Amino acid sequence: MQKLYEGKSKIVYKGEDDKTCIISYKDTATAGNGAKKEDLPGKGRLNAAISNLIFEYLAENGVKTHLVKVLSETSVLAKIAEIVQVEVIVRNVAAGSFSKKYGVPEGTSLKNTVVEFCLKSDELGDPMINDCQLTAIGVATQEELDELKSAALKIDSLLTSLFLKAGIRLIDYKLEFGKADGEIILCDEISPDSCRLWDADTDKKLDKDRFRRDMGGVIEGYEEVLKRLKEALGK
Ligand code: C5P
Repeated sequence: MQKLYEGKSKIVYKGEDDKTCIISYKDTATAGNGAKKEDLPGKGRLNAAISNLIFEYLAENGVKTHLVKVLSETSVLAKIAEIVQVEVIVRNVAAGSFSKKYGVPEGTSLKNTVVEFCLKSDELGDPMINDCQLTAIGVATQEELDELKSAALKIDSLLTSLFLKAGIRLIDYKLEFGKADGEIILCDEISPDSCRLWDADTDKKLDKDRFRRDMGGVIEGYEEVLKRLKEALGK
């Protein structure tokens, strides 16, 4: 297979034709923009399985995504999209950088869903950026940003109810979008690497914060998420 790009947690290969690519999940875990790095055997398989279940559920509910088909335990065929250089962060509960920046204790439910934009740039550390800054530097148009926001809110209402059914609080997460055939579609992954997921009864963390914060039991947390999602979806 012809490698097109290797990122921190995935490798992209050339696909079946000019419109598709093969995305392969790696076992590498990174945090702090690559400062902390470790191999966690099984992580790629778990993230692929979780993300595929979520993308299929979203597609069934009218969200356009890049997923074409699942190829193996760790790889998918996806539509090639021109990635919008904006990370869309969605928050239902205060945690992480939001808690630090605004002095709101982790675990505080937010009165409304927060949608934040960050400029996608490893070099600059993905800085938070607002609509008029993004349009000013030509990264996206206001129409595109409005579409990202409304897609994020639709995804949030679908995911919040799915995770609740799975006994999990969806605290916050990151979404990435791309343009393909003139449409904005959901890309990348939705997994415990990109979400904060807490047990609904105990607030036990089942996500990458276990790795970031050296809590141990990373793979066990991801396995629990997969098991509960499968149950919630009847799969
Ligand atoms: O770091 P922060 O608290 O802003 O992260 C918010 C959410 O977005 C977390 O669920 C985190 O896992 C996710 N995120 C991500 N990739 C980034 C930045 C944030 O997956 N580059």
